[in-house]
Amino acid sequence: MRTHHCASMTESEIGERVRLCGWVNSRRDHGGVIFIDLRDSSGIMQIVVNPEQGEYFAVAESVRNEYVLQIKGVVRERPAGTENLGISTGTIEVVCDTLQVLNKAVNLPFQLEEGDVNEALRLQYRYLDLRRERMQRNIRLRHVLIQTIRSYLNDCSFTEIETPILTRSTPEGARDYLVPSRVHTGSFYALPQSPQMFKQMLVIAGFERYYQIARCFRDEDLRADRQLEFTQLDIEMAFITEQDIMQLMEKLFRKVFKSTIDTDLPEKFPVMSYSEAMLRFGTDRPDLRISLEITDLTDTMKSEEFQVFRRAANLNDGRVAALRVPSGSSLSRQQIDDYTKYVADWGAKGLAYIKVNDVSSGRDGLQSPILKFLSDQTVNRIIEETSSESGDMIFFGADHASIVNPSLAALRVKIAGDLNQIESGWRPLWVVDFPLVEFDETDKRWYSVHHPFTAPKQSHVSDINESPESVLSRAYDLVLNGVEVGGGSIRNHSMETQNKIFSLLGLSAEEIDAKFGFLLNALRCGAPPHGGIAFGIDRIAALLSGEDSIREVIAFPKTQRAYCPLTSAPNEISTDQLDELELRLKPTAAIMNQAAIPDS
Ligand code: AMO
Ligand code: AMP
Repeated sequence: MRTHHCASMTESEIGERVRLCGWVNSRRDHGGVIFIDLRDSSGIMQIVVNPEQGEYFAVAESVRNEYVLQIKGVVRERPAGTENLGISTGTIEVVCDTLQVLNKAVNLPFQLEEGDVNEALRLQYRYLDLRRERMQRNIRLRHVLIQTIRSYLNDCSFTEIETPILTRSTPEGARDYLVPSRVHTGSFYALPQSPQMFKQMLVIAGFERYYQIARCFRDEDLRADRQLEFTQLDIEMAFITEQDIMQLMEKLFRKVFKSTIDTDLPEKFPVMSYSEAMLRFGTDRPDLRISLEITDLTDTMKSEEFQVFRRAANLNDGRVAALRVPSGSSLSRQQIDDYTKYVADWGAKGLAYIKVNDVSSGRDGLQSPILKFLSDQTVNRIIEETSSESGDMIFFGADHASIVNPSLAALRVKIAGDLNQIESGWRPLWVVDFPLVEFDETDKRWYSVHHPFTAPKQSHVSDINESPESVLSRAYDLVLNGVEVGGGSIRNHSMETQNKIFSLLGLSAEEIDAKFGFLLNALRCGAPPHGGIAFGIDRIAALLSGEDSIREVIAFPKTQRAYCPLTSAPNEISTDQLDELELRLKPTAAIMNQAAIPDS
């Protein structure tokens, strides 16, 4: 149907007769001459239709945006003064002599160049939304990302292997999506939260280097960086150490950044322990582009008079910490109030602060509602330990560490953004030495920090029963500009250690056998030492595209309410389908189903 793509043509085609196909990006009527910007997947070519073309001119007059055309004509240089240097084909145009409408388009729900279209509407008409240049660029970048990954891993002797989608649940910490079985009435498959157990069994099966671009499903609360179905680059290898895998993955990231955005990442990524990250940044995924840091004051405040601080410092898991903001003393009362509200979202009950107007004048140089509660000695220590200078602001968090850490971590990012203190560029970071397990006060039981298959550090194995809280794991996360892009670990290849961990997590021998018997059997059949990692492809694609939400790099994402406005999924199913599965909805569910309202 065509001889060329619109934007594949250059001045070397001048004088050639060409056939082009595409969509009407825009049509302009210029005193008798009609200009059509014809768009195909390569870009745009300006088409000129003169009145002499008679019937074709009439057709050109009738076309509207997004009509699908085939045009024939001759390429010519644009007349002097009419060039458009904003597009690659801006010095040429095609003078049309034949024009055929291949298909019409109705009035569109939004124009492609419109900026601020409601997201639900964009998703409902995703095929139109995806025609936009930004979305075409994002989806193609994602393609290059995946091709680079495949090509690199293939070169490194990895085998790409698919694993089942209908499976049984793998504990990754989220709720499962379940699929009822018709054949095994009353039983359910789970969609994989990750291929974790399958990939371990593939390595046990002798595929020493496995990878998969794997779809994973997790029924969790959706956010900008979370979807209920998302894509992982899933990797597992035999006979490796943490260092082996980290090195290999750094090389992969350097290749990906080069091929997608022509950027050089550092030769070696820095490594930080989990405890250092929590101490200095209050989070295990610090954004190193931000220089602000947290100072721990828990010990300093243990016998302090100000009871907000003293009480927190003496809690079992209490923390008092300060966030020094250089040049922050210019923040207004209103801004401080806004930040106080901001940290309240993380449970903080207040946001004490000290304005450091003049550090050389002692108390008189400071301004703060809590100053009167603090001794001279404490004030001096705060200034000293935070290395504060004149013109700074110091914010304080005092509570359980589980409140202070996330609130100050979020505040750090928020303030850095507001004050334009986020450096540009790319700051990858490996976070290691995570605790193996953490205790949940509500459930009164231990949970894995990564997943139960993660190996403890060898020297810590004997502590698993006596002091689980002190056991560190062989897990590693890759953080990029504050986003957790991947995580993995060296696994338990010893059946005994694996069993110990299952018991620590509160599983009885019967439960272990029922849920994980097949894995333990496999470990008993000559499992090699092994480990792996999984990366969030959507998150990496979003970072590379400069998008805040992973929905911008997924062709057909769900809304924040786990709904697909394009296909109206999820949807009710017929009574026949339910009967076949021998299922019946609870009356309340049936009513809610009928009233199901899509997102607006
Ligand atoms: P983990 O649970 O850390 O590890 O997942 C790996 C990476 O997947 C991405 N990710 C998500 N992306 C979008 N939406 C979600 N809901 C979502 N959840 C996770 C993150 C994360 O770092 N089996 C282990 C890996 C291993 O041990 O090898 C696992 O799944 O970028
Ligand atoms: P109050 O004694 O509640 O009036 O608080 C005095 C100051 O301490 C106010 O500036 C509060 O915002 C702050 N504040 C109160 N509770 C906390 C807390 N848990 N962490 C940090 N600051 C707090």
